[in-house]
Amino acid sequence: MEISWLLLPLVYIIAALALISKIIPKQNPNPKLPPGPKPWPIIGNLNLIGSIPHQSLHMLSQKYGEIMLLKFGKFPVVVASSPEIAKQFLKAHDTVFASRPALAAGKYTSYNYSDMAWAPYGPYWRQARKIYLSEVFSPKRLESFESIRMKERRNFLSHLRSLSGKPVVLRKEITRYTLSSISKMVFGNKYFSESENNKSMVKLDELQGTLDEWFFLNGVFCIGDWIPWLSFLDVGGYIKRMNALYKKFDRFHNYVIDDHLARRVKEKDNFIPKDAVDRLLLMAEDPHLEVKLTRDCIKGLLQDLLNGGTDTSATTVEWSIHEILKHPQILQKAKEELDRVIGRNRWVEENDFPQLPYIDAIIMESMRLHPLAPLLIPHYAMEDCKVASYDISKGTTILINTWSMGRDPISWDKPEEFLPERFIGKETDMLGSNFALLPFGSGRRRCPGYNLGLKIVRTTVANLVHGFELKVDGDICMEELYGLTVRPKESLVIIMEPTLPSHLY
Ligand code: HEM
Repeated sequence: MEISWLLLPLVYIIAALALISKIIPKQNPNPKLPPGPKPWPIIGNLNLIGSIPHQSLHMLSQKYGEIMLLKFGKFPVVVASSPEIAKQFLKAHDTVFASRPALAAGKYTSYNYSDMAWAPYGPYWRQARKIYLSEVFSPKRLESFESIRMKERRNFLSHLRSLSGKPVVLRKEITRYTLSSISKMVFGNKYFSESENNKSMVKLDELQGTLDEWFFLNGVFCIGDWIPWLSFLDVGGYIKRMNALYKKFDRFHNYVIDDHLARRVKEKDNFIPKDAVDRLLLMAEDPHLEVKLTRDCIKGLLQDLLNGGTDTSATTVEWSIHEILKHPQILQKAKEELDRVIGRNRWVEENDFPQLPYIDAIIMESMRLHPLAPLLIPHYAMEDCKVASYDISKGTTILINTWSMGRDPISWDKPEEFLPERFIGKETDMLGSNFALLPFGSGRRRCPGYNLGLKIVRTTVANLVHGFELKVDGDICMEELYGLTVRPKESLVIIMEPTLPSHLY
C-alpha cells in the first residue's frame, strides 16, 4: 500500500510526459535533407550568391542537383531547378508552399505585406485575390477596358512615329505606354505629368524611376533578412532606400485616393464607381468583409496593379525585341506572317492572335530564355513536408529557378538557342501546367494578371514589328540586370521608320 502511494506521483509524471509528447510534434531526429554546399557559420552559403543570384543558383544546381538545400544566414532555403521538382512544390504540395517569407521588401515597400505579392497565405491574401479576379481581371472587366488599351496603343504608335529618324530609348517609351494604359484602366486617369509645369502631379520620369527602384529593391539580398542581428548595419543602404521609396509611393497613392474621394463628395447621389480605385474605396466601407480593408491595404493593392501592370509587360516586350533584332531571319519571318494575316492597311488587334502563331512563338521563346521573375517571388513552407523523398521543414524559403528550367536539356532541344520554331505546330501551355515553362508561375500564387499582361505584350511586340523598320543604334545587350524582375542591363536604342500608310498613325 505504502509503495503504491509513493508510485502515484511517478505515474502522474509519466502520464503528463506522454501527453506533452503527443501535443508537441516530434522533431524528426534524422531528417533526410536535400544535398547542398556546406554552410559557413553566420553567413551560411551567402558567399556563393553573386550579383545575378539565379545564375549563381543555376551553377550550384549543376553540382548539387535539381533540389538543393542552402543556408542564407541561419535560414534554410531550398532551390528547385527542374520541372519535376517545381511541380512537386507548386502542384503536389501547393497549399503547403503557398506563403511568402516575411522579407524587408514586403514590410517597407509594400505597406507591411498588405499588397498581394508579399501577403502571407491566409484570409487577407484570399480576399485580395478574389477582389482582383472579380474587379480587375475578370474577362468582362478586361473586355470593358479594351477600348482604353486600343486608344493608348494608337497614341503610343503615333508618338513613336513622331520620333522617327531619332534615336529612341525603347524601354522608356514602352514603360511610358504601359504606365499610361494601366493608370487609365485602374485609376481612371493618367495621374502623372509629362510637363515640368504641372507641380501637383508626379512627373513621368520620376514615376518610372520609382517603379524601377521597387523592382530592384524587391529582388535584393538584404543582409538583415538572413542575419537579423546585423540588420542595424543596413549593408548596401537598402532599408534606407526602401523607406525613401515608400514615401514617394505613398505621396502618389494619397494623391490618387484623395482625388477619387473628392469626386465622390462632389457628385453626391449621382456618384457611380468608374474604376478599380472607386470600387476598392466602396468595398472598404463594407462591414461584411472578412478582413477589413484599411487605407494602407488599398494602397498596397493599387501598388500591385501599378507595378504588375507596368514593368512586367514592358520588360517582356523589351527582351522579345532584343531577340528579334539579334536574329534578322526571325524578324523577316515575323514580318511575313504579319503581312499575310493582317495586311498593310491596319494595325494588329488583340483578337488577331489565334492567327499569329509565329509572333506568339517568338514571345514564348523569349519568356523561356528570359523569364521575367527567374526565381518567381519566393515561396515559403507553412508546414513540414516531404518533397521528392527529402524532408523540407516548416519555415523554409523556396526558390523556383525558372531560368534554369528554361535551359533544361531534358525538356528543351538546343536549350541555349533562340528558336521560336520549336513551338510551331505544338500546343504548349505557358500558364502553369507545363512546368518547363513557367513565366507566370503556377498554382495558388500564379500571376493573376497574366491575361492582361499577354494582351499588352502580344499587341505591342506585333505592332512594333508590323508598323516600323527598326534599326539598332549601338549594341544589342543580352546581359541581365537583376531585381525581382530581370531586364536587359543596357536599354536598346533604336531608330524607327514608319512602314504603314501614314493615315494609320
Ligand atoms: C507579361 C506580363 C507578366 C508576367 C510575365 C508576370 C509574371 C509573374 C510571376 C512570375 C509572378 C510570381 C508567381 C509566383 O510567385 O509563383 C507574378 C505574380 C503576380 N503578378 Fe504578374 N506577371 C505579368 C503581368 C502582371 C500584371 C499585368 C499584373 C497586374 C496588373 C500582375 C500582377 C501580379 C501580382 C499581384 C502577383 C502576385 C500574386 C500572388 O502572390 O498571389 N502581373 N507575376
